[in-house]
Amino acid sequence: MKNPALFKISILDDNLHFARVMIPLLFLLAGTAPINAQEGEPTGQRTTEGETVEKKFTNKEENALCLKCHANKYVRFTPEGSDQPYIFKMYSDCIIDTTKYYASNHWNFKCVDCHSSDYETYPHLAGLRFEYMATCLDCHGDDPEYAKFHFEKIQEQYEASVHFSKYSNEISCWSCHNSHYYKINARNRDQDIKMTIAYDNAICLGCHANTDNFEMIAERLNPDVTTTHEWLPNQANHFKSVRCIECHAEINDTLLVAHKILPKEQAVKKCVECHSSDSRLKASLYKYQLEEGASLVKDDMIGDAVLIGSRRSTTVNLLSNILILATVLGILGHWSLRIITRKKTKP
Ligand code: HEC
Ligand code: HEC
Ligand code: HEC
Ligand code: HEC
Ligand code: HEC
Ligand code: HEC
Ligand code: HEC
Repeated sequence: MKNPALFKISILDDNLHFARVMIPLLFLLAGTAPINAQEGEPTGQRTTEGETVEKKFTNKEENALCLKCHANKYVRFTPEGSDQPYIFKMYSDCIIDTTKYYASNHWNFKCVDCHSSDYETYPHLAGLRFEYMATCLDCHGDDPEYAKFHFEKIQEQYEASVHFSKYSNEISCWSCHNSHYYKINARNRDQDIKMTIAYDNAICLGCHANTDNFEMIAERLNPDVTTTHEWLPNQANHFKSVRCIECHAEINDTLLVAHKILPKEQAVKKCVECHSSDSRLKASLYKYQLEEGASLVKDDMIGDAVLIGSRRSTTVNLLSNILILATVLGILGHWSLRIITRKKTKP
């Protein structure tokens, strides 16, 4: 079972009920439940696109010099020439979860690769607060090793997004890609697609469901996402089955993850955009699985009818069937009631 996510998608459609029972059973029998390494689990392994790389943590000792303060809720500090230790609270924003840090894309970095080495002294110099922080493109731009990510294209798309047009100073790549924890998901072959959805949506909800973060930037009330998406039936399930960007970002053929967030008026509202055989999800949510899967899995396992979102026949048809059934039952009920009451009123 190389790719549980793909397996699930393809099987779900054809034989939903069978699959719901059989998949857990199969994994149970095989003794390999498709549980992925939770973000932060120190497995010592990194699997992107199939290859498994054994991690060699070369900077842990050096980082420990920073993390002895930055991984704790409390700082213990003894000023030079004193034997009186001070204990005080660390700002919550400055506390780093080491497990998540060492599971992230940049796990092999020293703190001082990105931050000034002047931070090695404490109390930190006040001016360090204004140090220049490298951007993604400073490191990844024009680098053939990262060509498949198309960083330049992402930058271009990001600059055309609503966030940039309104708040180019406040929102940057780092606003969505946590500087210490960002970990690749959509491209993770071994990961259940639901986990990617949860990871990606948490990024957006980090502001759109977090009043503090939102209002620090927008200086206006944060509209409640649950209310603004009330029109979407079974919203909770949709938010677990698709990413925000499926409806809010313009599909881009080059990119695996679209970065051009459009104004709300241009968001997808039509059900058939997903619930149809040429579902837009094929070019977004399922893109990686389809592209990689083609070489991975036999062709007969992927085809038009296999995608969850395109199960028009089962999902939306079921709904309309229920509606038809309800109408028929309603009419029948009405008739029988009329017959009964007619009989009763007859003298
Ligand atoms: C003795 C404890 C201690 C050590 C060691 C320490 N820090 Fe800090 N650091 C703090 C505290 C406390 C703060 C909160 C702001 C302040 O007091 O300057 C902080 C703040 C920071 C900030 C945020 C500055 C800002 O205001 O935006 C950065 C970045 C930082 N530290 C990086 C580092 C790095 C990198 C190292 C290791 C080279 C390190 N620190 C070592 C205690 C420490
Ligand atoms: C890949 C680059 C990178 C590495 C590696 C890195 N940082 Fe940072 N760090 C940043 C960036 C960028 C910011 C500013 C975040 C922002 O603007 O949202 C930051 C912010 C911080 C802050 C301030 C947090 C805040 O929200 O004000 C602290 C403290 C910090 N880093 C400590 C560390 C420590 C300790 C390490 C090593 C364990 C480390 N960083 C490793 C890029 C990095
Ligand atoms: C200071 C330079 C630097 C900065 C800034 C930086 N990166 Fe990286 N990044 C690297 C290096 C080096 C690696 C390779 C790490 C490794 O695997 O050892 C990497 C790895 C990655 C990977 C994983 C690639 C893979 O094949 O798994 C992604 C994705 C990534 N970076 C995205 C970003 C994004 C997005 C930003 C900005 C938010 C960013 N990086 C900022 C240097 C940087
Ligand atoms: C509004 C939020 C947001 C902003 C701003 C943002 N990104 Fe992303 N980015 C995402 C999300 C969500 C993903 C999907 C993460 C995943 O599943 O791996 C992603 C994925 C990526 C990836 C991995 C794509 C792949 O092919 O696997 C790269 C590289 C990246 N972003 C770079 C950038 C750069 C560079 C910037 C700034 C120019 C940026 N991002 C700004 C939300 C954002
Ligand atoms: C760093 C905080 C932050 C993050 C993360 C973030 N947003 Fe936003 N977003 C904002 C702010 C602030 C606005 C502007 C609100 C305003 O003033 O109208 C905005 C605006 C929007 C709008 C436009 C609303 C309109 O009025 O047209 C959409 C759509 C949107 N965001 C979707 C997303 C999606 C999807 C993601 C995740 C990929 C995301 N946002 C991540 C802060 C954020
Ligand atoms: C099925 C498509 C779909 C999904 C999924 C979706 N949205 Fe939306 N969203 C829309 C549409 C359509 C609108 C415009 C609604 C309107 O104007 O009545 C909207 C409106 C918004 C707005 C603007 C609200 C306002 O009135 O200012 C924000 C912000 C937003 N969405 C964020 C998100 C976030 C965050 C997620 C993921 C948790 C998400 N959306 C998921 C379709 C979607
Ligand atoms: C962005 C793509 C997208 C859009 C737009 C969309 N859906 Fe869905 N919908 C999905 C996916 C994916 C599922 C999950 C299917 C599953 O879990 O098997 C789903 C599930 C459903 C379900 C089944 C719910 C359940 O709990 O099993 C119904 C009913 C449904 N959608 C109706 C609609 C209607 C009506 C609209 C338009 C107002 C709509 N959808 C818009 C992608 C979408």
